[in-house]
Amino acid sequence: MTDPVSMRRDGNVAIITIDNPPVNALRHAVRKGILDNVIAARDDASIEAIVLTGAGRTFVAGADITEFGKPPQSPHLIEVIATLDDVKKPTIAAVHGTPLGGGLELTMGCHFRVAAPGTRLGLPEIKLGLIPGAGGTQRLPRLVGIEKALPMILSGDPISAKDALAAGLVDDIIEGDLVAGAVKFARSVLAAKRPLQRVKDREDKLEDIRANPAKFDEIVAQHAKKTRGLHAPAAAIEAIRLTLDTPIDEAQKKERDLFLKLVVGEQSKSQRHIFFAEREAGKVPGIGKDVAPREIKKAAVIGAGTMGGGIAMNFANVGIPVTIVETSEDALKRGMATIEKNYQMSVQRGSLKAEDLSKRLALFTPTTDLNAIKDADIVIEAVFENMPIKKELFGRLEAIAKPGAVLATNTSYLDVNEIAQVTHRIGDVVGMHFFSPANVMKLLEIVRGKDTAPDVLATAIVVGRAIKKVPVVVGVCHGFVGNRMLSARSIEAEKLLLEGALPQDVDGALTEFGFPMGPFAMSDLAGIDVGWRSRKERGVRNEIADTLAEAGRFGQKTGKGFYLYEGRSARPDPEVEKLIVDASVRMGVKRRQVSKEEIIERLIYPMVNEGARILDEGIATRPGDIDVIWLYGYGFPAWRGGPMHWADTVGLAKIRDRLKELAKETGDKRHEPAALLNRLADEGGTFAGLATAKAA
Ligand code: 3HC
Repeated sequence: MTDPVSMRRDGNVAIITIDNPPVNALRHAVRKGILDNVIAARDDASIEAIVLTGAGRTFVAGADITEFGKPPQSPHLIEVIATLDDVKKPTIAAVHGTPLGGGLELTMGCHFRVAAPGTRLGLPEIKLGLIPGAGGTQRLPRLVGIEKALPMILSGDPISAKDALAAGLVDDIIEGDLVAGAVKFARSVLAAKRPLQRVKDREDKLEDIRANPAKFDEIVAQHAKKTRGLHAPAAAIEAIRLTLDTPIDEAQKKERDLFLKLVVGEQSKSQRHIFFAEREAGKVPGIGKDVAPREIKKAAVIGAGTMGGGIAMNFANVGIPVTIVETSEDALKRGMATIEKNYQMSVQRGSLKAEDLSKRLALFTPTTDLNAIKDADIVIEAVFENMPIKKELFGRLEAIAKPGAVLATNTSYLDVNEIAQVTHRIGDVVGMHFFSPANVMKLLEIVRGKDTAPDVLATAIVVGRAIKKVPVVVGVCHGFVGNRMLSARSIEAEKLLLEGALPQDVDGALTEFGFPMGPFAMSDLAGIDVGWRSRKERGVRNEIADTLAEAGRFGQKTGKGFYLYEGRSARPDPEVEKLIVDASVRMGVKRRQVSKEEIIERLIYPMVNEGARILDEGIATRPGDIDVIWLYGYGFPAWRGGPMHWADTVGLAKIRDRLKELAKETGDKRHEPAALLNRLADEGGTFAGLATAKAA
């Protein structure tokens, strides 16, 4: 293996280059390489300044996350930074791409920082359930002040080079050749004999807050979001607070202790699992780098309802022109009015510039003429969820769409193979299942039909990423992965009501678990009438939900559903309690006390069981894919890592045994443990182990 860090000279300036693709993560050899080269440059009398830079697409994007949890190897990043701190020659970090986490901490061991335009700098550790562990919580406030540093550390979001310059995080933005510019900067420092101040000695940006420490809590109150159960934000605040009164060396030790505690905790392990699972999910067996995706320059969406409008917005948001087709002028006008309203809200919130609104809207071509899709490279159908309607539409699409166009269906449940069969280009057909609201939710289930062409699948993945979704490839079955597992949960939620729980008990247990909302609040938001109508068509009944719908309680839109609403705020309704108790009597179910623990087991264990069946059937490729789906589509808390990862932490034997009991108690065959779950439980295995074995 070649050396990941090298040094060359430009006259009296040493240029140390980190070259560890893809993102220059600070694995052991990199840390050692930086240290050795910094020492060599420091001790070489002919070298007067040092530039530290990164090769490839980015400067160092952080510590090597794959090393976390393994025995640490010296030199640690802290040692590297401490050595840099003591260099008596100007040290300049020249950064581009995404200097993040340990990468940004490394730059804060230098006297100066210069950045290429377009660089994004940040401390994203919080997103991995961590805090910066190599001085970031002490040095960033010293450079930019607490008011800027605290939200950066708590959100984990990076800032632009321009903002970094304004805040004092970087000293210059270099247009053109970054390294040449950094060398020039170094020479100007030498020529001007600029004083070399270490970041650790900077106190100026902290003076005001030290004089008025109550301000710290005001800043915290402004930025600390509700972080139900999360450990890292509290640790971050604790560490940053040390800048008020603790000498930096001591504070860095405390920061390190906090970091080390978090790194071995379940929350960070879960968040790191999600980080890698999300990236794995885009890798599909049989679709290698040799499969070139088709080029997508124009899109078309059929249906301007809530889903169609939201899907179309995703394309316009990234500058791809999109034709949007409806059957009537009225429906089209309504759809476009909603889209415009959504964008106006973005303008009000400041996420879209007022002058860009008309440009954004100009990317839409609304029409009632299906022929207008003829030049689209991808056509996404988002019409009513009904097989005959979809088939009829695909029959027509085939005659109009240009050769090679990807034909996608946004079905949530239906058989993509059956839809594909009506065309003579079954290879072009793929499912692209968006989640509502489609312009907001990040999940995209890409449904691979049995005949979907590899390049069509690759295109769907690339398009998904381009429109800023997290794509996960799944196979064909009723409800695919997400909704199939959701259905297992919904059945149990209703049963719990009949057995003795109330909506607020069930929802409360799930929000305490970490979901943003429980199933009944979600039903009220989506509209209870939607499921009711579809059940009526299928001739099935859901005793409680249907009784509510029959009483005109459709949820938030009618001000009453499982809860009573004033605006968006919900409160329990005694009428609903009575209605539920009556339903239990009608159904002959004796009500009893249901504990929070039982609610969690009854709702999530059957999901895990269904997830195991999904894996066994090959509908999902890896357990991590299921976790990503549940995180981005249904709000499963990231710090629990998704249902399959969470199941591993609970223990598969425990889950299997409880499911067996449930199957016996209720006679419900769905609770019989899946073959895969049984096998892993017997072997003392885990879903994670299964994924590792598959990858090996
Ligand atoms: N460690 C190890 N591997 C990493 C990594 C890291 N810090 N960052 C990225 N990678 C890997 C990814 O897993 C991926 O591998 P793959 O190709 O085998 O799937 C590859 O690098 C490319 O990553 P992306 O697909 O994410 O590439 P993008 O260009 O879309 O994004 C990025 C690049 C913005 C750098 C993004 O990867 C990212 O956000 N990385 C994590 C950054 C981070 O969290 N840094 C802080 C780490 S913790 C830390 O530094 C602790 C310190 O305080 C002590």
